[in-house]
Amino acid sequence: MTDPTLQIRTLLYQEIRSLKNAMERIHLQDGEILFQRGDPGDAFYVIESGQVRVFTYDERGKELTLNTLQAGEAFGELALVDDQPRSASVSAVGPVTLLQLCREDFVQSVHSSPALTQAVIQLLSERSRHMISYVEWLGQWTRLVAEGHYDQAMNSLDAGREAQDDALAAVADAVGSMVQVVKKREEQLRQEVAQLQIQIDEKKRQRHVAEITETDYFKGLAERANRLRQRAAEIRKESAQPISLEEVTMSKIVSIHSFRGGTGKSNISANVAAQLAVKGHRVGVIDTDIQSPGIHVLFGMDEEKIDKALNDYLWGRCAIEETAYDVGAKFNEGEVVLMSGGMYLIPSSLRAGEIARVLQEGYDVGMLNEGFQALIEKLNLDYLIIDTHPGLNEETLLSIAISDILIIILRPDQQDFQGTAVTVDVARKLDVPTLYMVVNKALTSYDFDDLRRQVEETYDSDVASVIPLSEDVARLQSSDIFSLRYPGHAVSEAINQIVTVVEKA
Ligand SMILES: Nc1ncnc2c1ncn2[C@@H]1O[C@H](COP(=O)(O)OP(=O)(O)OP(=O)(O)O)[C@@H](O)[C@H]1O
Ligand SMILES: [Mg+2]
Repeated sequence: MTDPTLQIRTLLYQEIRSLKNAMERIHLQDGEILFQRGDPGDAFYVIESGQVRVFTYDERGKELTLNTLQAGEAFGELALVDDQPRSASVSAVGPVTLLQLCREDFVQSVHSSPALTQAVIQLLSERSRHMISYVEWLGQWTRLVAEGHYDQAMNSLDAGREAQDDALAAVADAVGSMVQVVKKREEQLRQEVAQLQIQIDEKKRQRHVAEITETDYFKGLAERANRLRQRAAEIRKESAQPISLEEVTMSKIVSIHSFRGGTGKSNISANVAAQLAVKGHRVGVIDTDIQSPGIHVLFGMDEEKIDKALNDYLWGRCAIEETAYDVGAKFNEGEVVLMSGGMYLIPSSLRAGEIARVLQEGYDVGMLNEGFQALIEKLNLDYLIIDTHPGLNEETLLSIAISDILIIILRPDQQDFQGTAVTVDVARKLDVPTLYMVVNKALTSYDFDDLRRQVEETYDSDVASVIPLSEDVARLQSSDIFSLRYPGHAVSEAINQIVTVVEKA
């Protein structure tokens, strides 16, 4: 196949030969540069003898050959129409003789030669057709590379090279090298993933666990927790709703906890609660992060509208059920009933004075437990979800102690591994009936099965879900409940895995 642009260039060359007087002869030595990309483009060239190389530079300044032109071929024709900067550089390959036509001379000649004008128009229209085909090739290659179909991309690059277009072949070579680089980097990443190792210092782990669990306070708490759990089970059994002769519904307390902050506790609590409510359960969510409350934001609750909070109950100003807000109702407005169950939030106060008082004076954590039980009863809850403050402080230990299901969240981060091990051991010493781990913010390049296996082995407990690190979640900025807004998303699917284990527990 002959390059149509070449045919037109030859036509242009023949027309221009009649202007020979106006053309200046130029000689270049091997490697000598005729012009550089970015130079003003004010002349057109025909190669009388020798070869030239058309090239550009990549972003690191490395030369990239776009084309090689032989005697009889012409280049720089765009400069005849406009005097925009050169789009590529040209240098001699061996000794070269060129004929140069300046733009001014050309413009003068055009008036007297309609054939010349016609040749230029044809050349420009052919060039734009050519560009469209380039863009199509490039689009196909980048799509295949982006989708990770490297073999298909390589085949398509071969097809591009066979089109017998030197410039396209040069671009195909450049894309081919890029594919190799991308493949290599992907391989390196895979190896790094394989190197992700959860390392725990066992001695330190035992020492830290002993520091917490061998205190009189802890021993008292563990005993009290056992008594409370037994009592709670009795109360709940008495008020349980029979479904059939064998089965009764028992409300459950689910604590969502992590050793370090920012692991995603509040986001996961809100999403799990919402999905349980969608499935027809009555759910309460309580913000026990009294020092730094936040979960109300996910439910779209205006701070100004929080009239009574958990703090008011703890100071004896009101009954706990007065601090519960129906945050599920808005999802059932209109004809569509999204939440066939119910969803209630018990927020913590955002007032600085209230937070300071809790920090300075503390409060009776026993009241917190009574509050949990009262909530379950008064609101007729199937699940009470406790969003906690990170670490192992008093109210957190209590909420762990009385929970039926404890979900410990960690990120695949060295800072989380050690402290999480201590948290898991402490929870075991508190006899929590059901314990699950959740890995959040896992890079999508990780091998999730391997991550799950490592966490299960390290902490000797089941992983309910591995949630990917997601820009979509970050973009939402905790302003809404993600899984309700994006039901099919990988993060929402991972949330549903937690919901499934909670329902089965
Ligand atoms: N899977 C995820 N991918 C990306 N961002 C996430 C993911 N999960 C949570 N986040 C983001 O991490 C931040 C912390 O989340 P969240 O407030 O739920 O954590 P937390 O454990 O409750 O924090 P704290 O300990 O401060 O209460 C938020 O900005 C949230 O949007
Ligand atoms: Mg939180």
